[in-house]
Amino acid sequence: MDILFSIDIKKEKELTLKELTLIDEARRATYRSYAPYSHFSVGAAAELEDGTIVTGSNQENAAYPSGLCAERTAVFYANSRYPDLSIRRLCIVARDTEGKFLSRPISPCGACRQALLESEQRSGKPIEVLLYGTDSIYIIHSIQDLLPLCFDESFL
Ligand code: THU
Repeated sequence: MDILFSIDIKKEKELTLKELTLIDEARRATYRSYAPYSHFSVGAAAELEDGTIVTGSNQENAAYPSGLCAERTAVFYANSRYPDLSIRRLCIVARDTEGKFLSRPISPCGACRQALLESEQRSGKPIEVLLYGTDSIYIIHSIQDLLPLCFDESFL
């Protein structure tokens, strides 16, 4: 069995205005991160089907596992505030412990991939993911591509 998926690797100058706007929102969201423990600030911006943009940032806690990643914050907020609007595109950006934007694209953790997948399956429409780095941007066409052989509600 072959599992195949494609990623577009682009430079900022090749992106559309909509993509650049979403990146800008995600970059701004990193400055609203609460990361006193890791000092690693992540921002996420979700573009909904009507063009609304919802952002989130990582929110940490002294009891470490109680915190939440930026992308889950954004997507859970989008789904709770606008349950009937699908998410068209999601951008994730991070700044390192020195405050600099990462040069290579940030990669979402496994728990986020699982949560994002459910959001995608719930709407029935693919969510395009932009993983931002200052050197290049990875564009992935569906969350499903980020989680091959996933566990989902079809098993229950
Ligand atoms: N983090 C995110 O918010 N998103 C990711 O994709 C990777 C990691 C957060 C969790 C924690 O607050 C910090 O970054 C360091 O792991």
